[in-house]
Amino acid sequence: MPTFTGEEAQNYDQRISKLVPGYEIIHQLTAAQLNVTLATNATILVIGAGTGREIIELAQANKGWHFIAQDVSADMLAIADQNFTNLGVRERVTIHHGKVDHSVYKADAALCLLVMHFVQSKRDKVNLLRQISENLKPEGQLYLADLMSPENDFERDAQFQFCHRFLGLTEQGVVKMRRNFIEEFFPISAQCLAELFAEANFSVPIPYFQALGFRAFYAQKHI
Ligand SMILES: C[S@@+](CC[C@H](N)C(=O)[O-])C[C@H]1O[C@@H](n2cnc3c(N)ncnc32)[C@H](O)[C@@H]1O
Repeated sequence: MPTFTGEEAQNYDQRISKLVPGYEIIHQLTAAQLNVTLATNATILVIGAGTGREIIELAQANKGWHFIAQDVSADMLAIADQNFTNLGVRERVTIHHGKVDHSVYKADAALCLLVMHFVQSKRDKVNLLRQISENLKPEGQLYLADLMSPENDFERDAQFQFCHRFLGLTEQGVVKMRRNFIEEFFPISAQCLAELFAEANFSVPIPYFQALGFRAFYAQKHI
């Protein structure tokens, strides 16, 4: 996994939109679904909150919502913390560094955007999903976006070309991305994702976004 520390954390915000086709749309589509389903006093658990992108957008539009910003990188959370303070939403955010233990929170919804593909084994992916499930209320919602296994032998090349031509990724950036996709990402198929969701007590994942290899899914925790 990339370290998401030091410079990697500092330049994350400039980098990410060049690497993920539809990065903005994933966030906007997720927000749209939360906006029409959650109560005005909802609590949202954000796994892998990074520099706080999800919370910044959601907190400004929903003044009664509370958030848990969880991440394994203290450097990413430090940037998020500063962003929350600058925007005046800090008092509605609990910052949680490291793993979330069983049943610490009772969130109405959880987000896990662009995180689980960094978790190597299926066992650890299920453990992450269980961590989420155990900190959600019954019927709580999960929104997850990940890089998935390629569905044909040209999908990845098309993605690299798209990032270069349309998102401004440099040629050197493409070379690095090609290497990282092999060494640092651990994508799974949609079928495998459905099996892991079931093991972690979630419903069948419903797709709501796809741009080549990146996809997003919605599911609900069983009662
Ligand atoms: C690509 S960034 C995504 C950040 C944010 N969700 C976004 O959409 O911009 C991935 C983040 O997940 C964090 N991360 C990686 N593995 C994690 C894990 N097992 N549990 C929690 N966070 C993790 C990284 O530290 C990093 O901040």
